[in-house]
Amino acid sequence: MAIIVTGASGGFGNAAAAQLLDLLPANELIFTTRKPAGLAEFAARGASVRYADFDDTASLPAAFAGGTQMLLISTARVGSRVGQHANAIKAAVAAGVKHIVYTSILNADSPTNPAIVKLDHRATEQLIEESGAAYTFLRDSQYAEAIAAAVVPPALASGVLPDNAHDGPIAFVSRDDCIASAVGALTTPGHENKAYDITGPELLSFPKAIALAMAISGKHIDYRPVDDEAMFAYFDSLGVPRHASDDPTTAPIPWSSDDMVTFGQAIREGYFNVITDHVERLTGRKPRSLHSVMMQFKDTWPKG
Ligand SMILES: NC(=O)c1ccc[n+]([C@@H]2O[C@H](COP(=O)([O-])OP(=O)(O)OC[C@H]3O[C@@H](n4cnc5c(N)ncnc54)[C@H](OP(=O)(O)O)[C@@H]3O)[C@@H](O)[C@H]2O)c1
Repeated sequence: MAIIVTGASGGFGNAAAAQLLDLLPANELIFTTRKPAGLAEFAARGASVRYADFDDTASLPAAFAGGTQMLLISTARVGSRVGQHANAIKAAVAAGVKHIVYTSILNADSPTNPAIVKLDHRATEQLIEESGAAYTFLRDSQYAEAIAAAVVPPALASGVLPDNAHDGPIAFVSRDDCIASAVGALTTPGHENKAYDITGPELLSFPKAIALAMAISGKHIDYRPVDDEAMFAYFDSLGVPRHASDDPTTAPIPWSSDDMVTFGQAIREGYFNVITDHVERLTGRKPRSLHSVMMQFKDTWPKG
């Protein structure tokens, strides 16, 4: 028995790999990445660190050999990653993987959900369902860290936050809890062929999140509800690319505006109005609050 973690140099994969090393014998762990040199510490502890690039199918059989379970971390390019995931799933099943845990998004299977990010996730879920391996889908809410580290700092710096999610309810979830849930799904029994909605502990909204940031920072942010066109215009003004396939090298935010604007629309229309106890069921502990995540990041926020 061996667990593969893909993308083990990324934020999610690296932390999941570290937690698994603390729980299981190292010789039961296979960590794959495009940058194996950066994982020398895991290799020194006895884990098998291997090169894998989902765009390079020739790299995958050796990378996945011996694996029986896999944590498949969704890759970064929204709109152009289903082929990458398909290559990984096909190679994993050919190598003998019997259970795939996949990092998805809330309401991935809702046909009316307007968030374009759900298209890749649902297509990948379907590939896993059809692969012959058992599945566990971890349908994550929006990361609290995305709010604390990517939304609040520019809003504090400019004093203004245009937003198209309006009062849409959302239970922001810490990426730490998404990672721990993935580790729980891999290391405790009974999660095959299940989909979990991974949410934080309280239904909030963007205005409530900004009010919290104002209380913590002691500074005012002018929260401005805008429509989707105005939201696109705002991201255009920041130099954010419209599509993930555009050149990302000059982008100030690591996401495209069509992803973010349709994500905001989905929140506004109620597709993130989901709160569950699934983090606690998978990890044995309650999820972190947005307040706790903001307190972790507040020293990185703009001063003055
Ligand atoms: N719910 C939310 O609010 C939210 C927010 C942000 C992200 N996400 C999702 O969570 C995922 C993980 O987030 P993160 O913070 O860990 O992102 P990250 O640090 O940017 O990591 C990106 C991941 O994609 C992998 N990857 C990229 N291209 C690849 C390729 N050609 N072959 C194999 N792997 C490839 C990387 O693996 P290596 O570098 O190790 O090769 C890495 O694990 C994201 O990709 C995204 O789908 C969700």
